[in-house]
Amino acid sequence: MSIRAVVQGCGHAVPTKVLTNFDLEKLVETSDEWIVQRTGIKERRVCAPGESTGSLTVQAAQEALKASNISAEELDLVIVGTVTGEFIWPSTACYVQDQIGAKNAGAFDISAACAGFIYSLQVGAAMIESGVAKTILVLGVDCLSKQLDYTDRSTCILFGDAAAGVVLRGEENTDRGVLKTVLRSDGDGIKHINLEVGGNRYPTGSPEAEGHRDKLFMAGSEVYRFAVNAMSDACLSVLSQAGMTIDDIDLFVPHQANLRIINSSAEKLGLPEEKVFVNVHKYGNTSGGSIPLALYEAEKEGRLKKGDAVLTVGFGAGLVWGANIIRW
Ligand code: UT7
Repeated sequence: MSIRAVVQGCGHAVPTKVLTNFDLEKLVETSDEWIVQRTGIKERRVCAPGESTGSLTVQAAQEALKASNISAEELDLVIVGTVTGEFIWPSTACYVQDQIGAKNAGAFDISAACAGFIYSLQVGAAMIESGVAKTILVLGVDCLSKQLDYTDRSTCILFGDAAAGVVLRGEENTDRGVLKTVLRSDGDGIKHINLEVGGNRYPTGSPEAEGHRDKLFMAGSEVYRFAVNAMSDACLSVLSQAGMTIDDIDLFVPHQANLRIINSSAEKLGLPEEKVFVNVHKYGNTSGGSIPLALYEAEKEGRLKKGDAVLTVGFGAGLVWGANIIRW
């Protein structure tokens, strides 16, 4: 009998501190008009002192469990997609496991940047489908505000902080669940978006680190060009593997990086505006938090209902990209 990993409920957490385009005008030579025109972003949330990846993820985890009516003890696994872990090691997932009291769960992180949730969801779904686990908390989170150079106008305007996620549970004889996923990577793109210092090659404060960047670096236009093609290719590929067409999709939930990227991929796919979910104007690019936060809000706004087919797609540092089709 086949088992599917079905979404039981969602949770989210964003910092309360809002950083608007007008605030950024005071930090770098930019304008609200430029940012809105080139990215669609109006404001983003950033951690205040005392807030971090760990605190947001725990909050999102607790809300997801409550929405699912599932206790922390029932979890077999906690998976967190993040590149801004609470510590360099151990994993943020272990921190969350302890804080929520998931005493019967294994826990690990997945490093796939803005595609972290796409990757994590597929790993969780495969664990359930293979019978290794029954109930899994899958979260995506990033707090890149702490790794940004607020004198670099080409990057500091883009990113914000957020955590969100879902509880997956194995169900038999259902047409709901994670239906299909494609995952891709191209490590030659490490040079386009990275954070060099703090890893093993360039330890913080070491002689090897001298002359290397200790804040996020991004070659924006290279990533932009890659993203537009990668998004539509991943979507077409996952649709074909699922034996579906774009007309079978009720809602498109793309990584919220840039409104222009979202619109051009939706256009390439032939998706009407009403099937495209957008919240980039409120949060900017929240990396691993972006897709689950969008799913959370889409459900809250009544745009995503039980039984709907949702297509998610993401891309990010690695380079990595991928897409899932979920029957909600
Ligand atoms: O999750 C994955 C992460 N990455 C992404 O999704 C990023 C993908 N890339 C992008 O979203 C876009 O490339 C950006 C929004 C980062 C930049 O937009 P663009 O249309 O590609 O601009 P550009 O980099 O080609 O820069 C155009 C001009 C430049 O000035 P000159 O050389 O033409 O005089 C920049 O210096 O805009 C200038 N510029 C700015 N001006 C005002 C760059 N950033 C800013 C800014 N305010 N914040």
